[in-house]
Amino acid sequence: MSALIRRFRIRNYRSLRDVEIAPGALTVVTGANGAGKSNLYRALTLAAAAARGTMAATIVEEGGMPSVLWAGAWKRDERRRLEVEVETDDWSFSLACGLPPPPQGAFELDPHVKMERLCDAGGHLLLERKGPTAWMTARGARSRTTYPAELEPQEAALSQLREPHLYPDVAVAQAVLARWRFYHHFRTDGGSPLRLPQVGTRTPVLAADGRDLAAALQTIREIGDPAALAQAIDQAFPGARLALDIQDGQFALFLHQAGFKRAFSARELSDGTLRYLCLVAALLSPRPSPLLILNEPDQSLHPDLMAPLAGLVLAASRFSQVWVITHSADLARRLTRAGATSFDLRIEAGATIAEETA
Ligand SMILES: Nc1ncnc2c1ncn2[C@@H]1O[C@H](COP(=O)(O)OP(=O)(O)OP(=O)(O)O)[C@@H](O)[C@H]1O
Ligand SMILES: [Mg+2]
Repeated sequence: MSALIRRFRIRNYRSLRDVEIAPGALTVVTGANGAGKSNLYRALTLAAAAARGTMAATIVEEGGMPSVLWAGAWKRDERRRLEVEVETDDWSFSLACGLPPPPQGAFELDPHVKMERLCDAGGHLLLERKGPTAWMTARGARSRTTYPAELEPQEAALSQLREPHLYPDVAVAQAVLARWRFYHHFRTDGGSPLRLPQVGTRTPVLAADGRDLAAALQTIREIGDPAALAQAIDQAFPGARLALDIQDGQFALFLHQAGFKRAFSARELSDGTLRYLCLVAALLSPRPSPLLILNEPDQSLHPDLMAPLAGLVLAASRFSQVWVITHSADLARRLTRAGATSFDLRIEAGATIAEETA
């Protein structure tokens, strides 16, 4: 099964009135402050959250359904619905949600799923939901059956599947969406978990906040590509070498840097150095995800690091579809020159417009 996304469309979510992106193996997104780049990043997290069963929490953490619905002037008879669509080579998934119907009770910020549809490549319905009712077609079955369990109105039916063996195609689509990975801003202040030793387990996927960085780097050394790891560090910080101290299951990160006799601990490293190490761990994951999205990976990195970062992104894009949202013209140029599809966002009349530029 190919999980390659051919089309992503989002409507009525924050500034994204109606934005459609046809991504490549590698996609670069640029645009001025406030153009809607992070909104697009969040829209993608929403599709993954729908599959994970965390859509309501994701929306409420952002301020709730009334806040995330497009705040512009709606047409008089238009239904206030947020709609998201993901189309891959093998299936397409769409979901529409809006405000909960009255009486809303205490959960007035929750989304309320109105419609959901999963089709195979031939356009046959595998799952259809209208409000509280869903129908599914089991593999090989001629007719569809009513979904046997009661659906939570604030979550996608996709995340509430109980019998994956009967509906393997639905289960695959759910698993693909749920495995999308997102990285945006690694906290590096003094209290950040990145700076402290952490209990470590085998970590093929770096946590979104990078808290398990040392364990993730050790995992790359053991079951990933240790040569690529050493090279990525040396290219960014010539002569530097990683050292991981592991005692009683506690993982601590150190970096030997050229010109110093002792190694520096994570507590002592610069913000940019730590962030770069997080990006290295994310991009060299020994278990690549179908889709990897980086929002402003250039943040607080010196311009000299754009070349090694671009190299890591290009290497990752051989195994995952990668989206990079960036303010670095240099990074964007390096990636588009290497064949990335590129979109520039701008705001027009309160709505984000996405224009393909390369
Ligand atoms: N519900 C909404 N309806 C319409 N527009 C919204 C809504 N919520 C937020 N916005 C708009 O989205 C804009 C923010 O967009 P976003 O955070 O995606 O910008 P960005 O391109 O990531 O900018 P930056 O480069 O500064 O990070 C805000 O300026 C605001 O005008
Ligand atoms: Mg942003």
